[in-house]
Amino acid sequence: MRISCPRQPDGERRVALTPDVVTKLVAAGHTVHVAPGAGEQAGFPDAAYTDAGADVGPSEAAVDLTVTVVDPGGAPTGALLGLLDPFVATDRMAGLAAAGTTVFAFEAVPRTTRAQVVDALSSQATAAGYQAVLVGAEASDRFFPMLTTAAGTIRPAKVVVLGAGVAGLQAIATARRLGAVVSAFDVRAAAAEQVESLGARFITLDDEPTDASDAGGYATQLADDAQQRIIDGLRPHLADADVIVSTAAIPGRPAPKLVDDTSLTAMRRGAVVVDLAAATGGNTTRTEPGVRVVHDGVVLIGDTDLVGGVAADASRMYAKNVAAFVELLAGDDGAYAPDWEDDIVAGSCIARDGRLVHPRLAPTPT
Ligand code: NAI
Repeated sequence: MRISCPRQPDGERRVALTPDVVTKLVAAGHTVHVAPGAGEQAGFPDAAYTDAGADVGPSEAAVDLTVTVVDPGGAPTGALLGLLDPFVATDRMAGLAAAGTTVFAFEAVPRTTRAQVVDALSSQATAAGYQAVLVGAEASDRFFPMLTTAAGTIRPAKVVVLGAGVAGLQAIATARRLGAVVSAFDVRAAAAEQVESLGARFITLDDEPTDASDAGGYATQLADDAQQRIIDGLRPHLADADVIVSTAAIPGRPAPKLVDDTSLTAMRRGAVVVDLAAATGGNTTRTEPGVRVVHDGVVLIGDTDLVGGVAADASRMYAKNVAAFVELLAGDDGAYAPDWEDDIVAGSCIARDGRLVHPRLAPTPT
């Protein structure tokens, strides 16, 4: 297979292939082209790609597969694989389909056990959850661990994690490693065991709506009154928090609100909220995407590029996901030959043969 790795648009520091992964792809018989400077911001210079066996230079005329982190623009020949935001950037997906590009999006990978190796949403959420805690610690005016010194004993910081999915669990683990006292909340009752296994306390609310997960174990959207009961129930747990990391999300929906103005007012001055859901509306009433704001003395961080702060390792994880996906697209002889019977290949395909094929985007047949 002829694989191409373009330079990312400005603002994206990750890269889709790392030199280690290029070595493996070349050993498997693929040819790999890397655009000059593609890995620079993630700490991988051109020379490392050349040493790994890639051809580094101007883009090739014809490739079978372009692998990217985010949409590289243009209309690649052959297939395109990346985090392409297909269910929001619907016009762009239609444009790519019309241009004849076959589009595979990590956002559409089915969340099954077999698909874990290609689950880039999870690998990147892991990176974001980790980084969120470090950013929160940096913005906080408190130590995270308990310190016993000649100048007295300082109690550990209190961290509250809202939403205990992939990012939330990594945030809990990271905050615990730094010595904070951590509690966490999720609407899925099944999350309690995972939270507790990481050494955090699971917050249960007195007036809690019944478990809000569907048959597949995913969170479902709550009615307004149920959501308000959660906001009210969480308030006392947030009042003495030093850092809140909020990650609550429902796939394809605006982020649920968990922290309202009254809760922010009840919090201590200098407390910090790192809101991972900023891009989809935020878990607080005051989060602004991409910026840091102070409301009633509480610092609200709506950074939408947390993963960029750990671009090298986030890229390493992403490149592994890409390599696993390449294997699914390669036939026995290594040539591009997707098996359309494979649920991961078919499920993550957004467009092929000149039209949108994903059920969430394809026009309903008449
Ligand atoms: P996930 O789906 O694994 O976890 C979300 C969790 O929120 C689930 O456990 C769900 O049960 C919970 N939840 C849903 N509604 C809730 C409610 N009303 N109250 C409490 N919990 C609720 O998602 P993942 O992969 O952990 O991602 C979390 C968020 O982080 C997403 O919004 C994602 O887009 C964002 N993200 C942000 C990045 C950044 O750089 N800022 C990078 C990567 C992800």
